[in-house]
Amino acid sequence: MKKIILCAIVASATLLAADSASVYKSGVLLPANGEAIYKQDCIQCHGADGKQTTDSGFSRIVYSPINGLDAAKLAKELKDYRYGSVNKYGYGQLMKSTLVDLSYEEIDALAEYISTNMK
Ligand code: HEC
Repeated sequence: MKKIILCAIVASATLLAADSASVYKSGVLLPANGEAIYKQDCIQCHGADGKQTTDSGFSRIVYSPINGLDAAKLAKELKDYRYGSVNKYGYGQLMKSTLVDLSYEEIDALAEYISTNMK
């Protein structure tokens, strides 16, 4: 019995350690974490402050800054991108492929994070 308990403790400790080090995976029993998703999926194109307006490798693609936007409007726009119904500058598909794996709950958390942390 002691051995079984010890094994369970070691196994769960290993799982926890793996969790904190691994990347954020949507829909895998983790609470929606806007900050983790932003840092993993958005920061390279929109910057830590949301003011980056071009993907560094593709300077001819220019879009608007995303800081200072209202959370509800942002969430709606992101959901529209997720469904492919927005294409402001001809690169809506890029945004769709980034958002397609995220749930509505995660998109709401993401919008909240952007809106409160990027003024
Ligand atoms: C590979 C680069 C890339 C990544 C990654 C990316 N975006 Fe974008 N984003 C773009 C491009 C390009 C556009 C312009 C799309 C278009 O043509 O409508 C855009 C547009 C937007 C817009 C609308 C801006 C405007 O002009 O109104 C928002 C909001 C946005 N992105 C948020 C996000 C969020 C949140 C994430 C992370 C889930 C993300 N983006 C990930 C490149 C990217």
